[in-house]
Amino acid sequence: MSTPVPARTQVAIVGGGPAGLMLSHLLRLRGVDAVVLESRPRERVETRQRAGILEHGTVDALREVGADARMDEIGMPHDGFELRFAGRSVRVDMQELTGRHVMIWAQTEVTKDLIALRLEQGEPLLFDAEVLEVCDVETDSPSVRYRHDGAEHVLHADVVVGADGSYGPSRRAIPEHLVRRFERIYPYSWLGILADVAPSSHELIYARGRTGFALASMRSPSVTRAYIQVPNGTDPASWGDEAIWDELSARFALDDGSFTLARGPISDKSVTPMRSMVTEPMRHGRLFLAGDAAHIVPPTGAKGLNLAVADVRVLAEALGEWFATKDERLVDAYSETALRRVWRASHFSWTMTTMLHVDPDGDPFDEQLALSHLHHIETSESARRALAENYRGLALGDV
Ligand code: DHB
Repeated sequence: MSTPVPARTQVAIVGGGPAGLMLSHLLRLRGVDAVVLESRPRERVETRQRAGILEHGTVDALREVGADARMDEIGMPHDGFELRFAGRSVRVDMQELTGRHVMIWAQTEVTKDLIALRLEQGEPLLFDAEVLEVCDVETDSPSVRYRHDGAEHVLHADVVVGADGSYGPSRRAIPEHLVRRFERIYPYSWLGILADVAPSSHELIYARGRTGFALASMRSPSVTRAYIQVPNGTDPASWGDEAIWDELSARFALDDGSFTLARGPISDKSVTPMRSMVTEPMRHGRLFLAGDAAHIVPPTGAKGLNLAVADVRVLAEALGEWFATKDERLVDAYSETALRRVWRASHFSWTMTTMLHVDPDGDPFDEQLALSHLHHIETSESARRALAENYRGLALGDV
């Protein structure tokens, strides 16, 4: 079914998630050959539940590579979202404040379309390929050693891209003493559910309830996606369905009693820990890192996928230029260019997270700051605009 993997390519891409797949497509459009090696089976990559909001730039990238047909048919453009706190509601009208909207289209679906397109094109993409080591990145001929079907292979390349997530092997090819690592662990996690019931609101609701954060999202006109803040280490099985609906209802409740949450059968439950992490630099020799391999954001605001796509758009441009003309300016600037956006999104994700979650053992001073920020957003149009600009995604020049 899949195209045989050559022993040599221009760009060896480690990781077949959205970052690696999108990069392979963008490179193909620029006439650059790539091989994608993914350690997990196809089925696992295609069923992993992740966030569901695409910024304008991510939508543009899907259009550029031709993976937009199902998104346009089924995806849901949203002009705004709602914040709730202290029993009140504030609408942030992105379209009016910034002239742009976002698209509700799940990462799982994006990934499926990028895989299908790659296989349709007969371009090399190998699942169940366990990368053992990324070698010789300080030379002109790096390589990737991997195991597939019980045999070891070596893929030689001009460039290796590590798009293999925060626990992948690529990062280890950068000597420890050259890496700066920034991290923040949050004292809470998200319990996420999928439920077969129509969304209770036509827009997303981010709530700071009295007992913690809740988010009402959707996957289709008949499927609700929702999250509640839970303590770290929570076992999803310890939450019964009714207890989840009760807690969601309490956290979304409005003082005027005008909101009712629709309940339905829950088909999936999972717990996601929250952390922020940035590693610098994002390049060492002939190795370039992209997406979660270089940075993690907490899920609030759904920046993870969008940042990964933003990285590979910058990288595809840079590598395209380098392979075509040998001009190194863009590849030399890659790490710095990408990190500008990474830190902007890290700040936004941290802001959304700390503003909307309740830390039971937290500092009361921090809590008052969070509430003050919400009050400011409620009363000031320019505060709402700043939030909306970050939420729908900034152009690279505005970061
Ligand atoms: C979803 C996830 C998010 O983290 C978010 O901010 C909005 C939506 C989602 O899964 O739908």
